[in-house]
Amino acid sequence: MKSNTKEKEHSSQISEKVSDSDFRKVAELVKSLAGINLTDGKQELVSARLAKRLRALHLNSIGEYLIFVREQKSQDELVTMLDAISTNLTSFWRESDHFDYVVEKALPKMVQKGQTTIRAWSAGCSTGEEPYGLGMLIHGNLPNPGRFDFKILATDLSTKVLDTAKRGRYGEDRVKSIPPELLNKYMTREKHDGAFIYSVESVIRNLISFNRLNLMESWPMKGPFDLIFCRNVMIYFDKPTQTKLIHRYFDLLRSGGTLFVGHSESLAGIQNPFKYIRPTIYEKP
Ligand SMILES: C[S@@+](CC[C@H](N)C(=O)[O-])C[C@H]1O[C@@H](n2cnc3c(N)ncnc32)[C@H](O)[C@@H]1O
Repeated sequence: MKSNTKEKEHSSQISEKVSDSDFRKVAELVKSLAGINLTDGKQELVSARLAKRLRALHLNSIGEYLIFVREQKSQDELVTMLDAISTNLTSFWRESDHFDYVVEKALPKMVQKGQTTIRAWSAGCSTGEEPYGLGMLIHGNLPNPGRFDFKILATDLSTKVLDTAKRGRYGEDRVKSIPPELLNKYMTREKHDGAFIYSVESVIRNLISFNRLNLMESWPMKGPFDLIFCRNVMIYFDKPTQTKLIHRYFDLLRSGGTLFVGHSESLAGIQNPFKYIRPTIYEKP
């Protein structure tokens, strides 16, 4: 969350009012709704992230905010709260060895098998850099891409990041990590208020469907997926939640399909049926 000085002042005033019991209530709510594990010591983070919402609602403490949330008939405020709490840091070509693996191993294997349908899922896609990057990479490396039925499902808990993702517009700083040939091929540049803005071309946009999906709830899609990217998402979940999720991914993958997890995540210590390929890359046998 970007915070200006005013927000910082306000959040520090609020953080003084976060009692341990209010923090525990927020933590329980967030854990039960989204699986996100707010461990002790995250009080300041919670108050900083909810500060803007409290100010908008003219509330003085997280305790008052919890009462407000409970009084609402619709789920909208809960969604807003989860939007504020979730960590959405991402970038194009983040952990780029995964992208190399797709081009060097996963994609050639599918093509050699004569497979013409390719399905990928970016689970926890944040502001869209991961699925757009994957779309450019695969489209740019398929021999005769028009011959393939290739689609990417991109989902996230946060409606706020999904709005940004759907726009598909990024500042110059954000696109620097995209390989130049793919940037030139799949993004258009225009000047806006003195700065360059890059927009994802429709040939890539049309491959991707963005949807809100809470990974803790039931999933409407049936698969099978060839590639599942769930990177830097499970890090916020506890081990039992991670274990369940990994088995659900296994069920949705095609045999020979690949699961990618973030570099600070691993399936080590989690009983699972995957074949280990290399750290953070796993295959369904
Ligand atoms: C740090 S971002 C990772 C983005 C991208 N995968 C990457 O590695 O760059 C984590 C994302 O997971 C989402 N997330 C957290 N809990 C979730 C849940 N229960 N269901 C779906 N998405 C969730 C957050 O909203 C956030 O956008």
